[in-house]
Amino acid sequence: MKIAIGSDHAGYELKSEIIKYLNTFDGLEIEDHGTYSDQSVDYPDLALKVAEAVARGDAQRGIVICGTGIGICIAANKVPGIRAATCHDKYTAQMSREHNDANILAFGSRVIPAETAKELVKVFVETDFAGDRHARRVNKISDIEKKYNPNKTCCR
Ligand code: RB5
Repeated sequence: MKIAIGSDHAGYELKSEIIKYLNTFDGLEIEDHGTYSDQSVDYPDLALKVAEAVARGDAQRGIVICGTGIGICIAANKVPGIRAATCHDKYTAQMSREHNDANILAFGSRVIPAETAKELVKVFVETDFAGDRHARRVNKISDIEKKYNPNKTCCR
């Protein structure tokens, strides 16, 4: 599985720690879309890079980090095909996968400690979508997207 990861300046330090952590998993490839320092940048730019990598299928999942995990999540969700979820604990990370088939995990470096972030990442990577009635609901999310982007399937 390939994971695309990105953050703004607020998430830069935590991103570096998460990349080190992801490197301890077997069979994971990590694609770092930046930012590459703690110099101030705009989170939508990084959200777009990660979201497009996931929407194109270059990466199977994405991780985005900003100060709160909110702005970067909102921006990622503007790309058709993206279901990004801001999570704060293992439970929300698990549900984002099982019930929502989230393909991007978002969290805030100013909100949760690094050890919690690692727990979220582990759950997000290892949990499968439950399908069944949840698939019907996720399909309805796609229908809303299609209603407002009738000619757009992805980012090409
Ligand atoms: C940057 O200061 C901060 O606004 C950003 O990281 C994020 O929290 C936005 O949602």
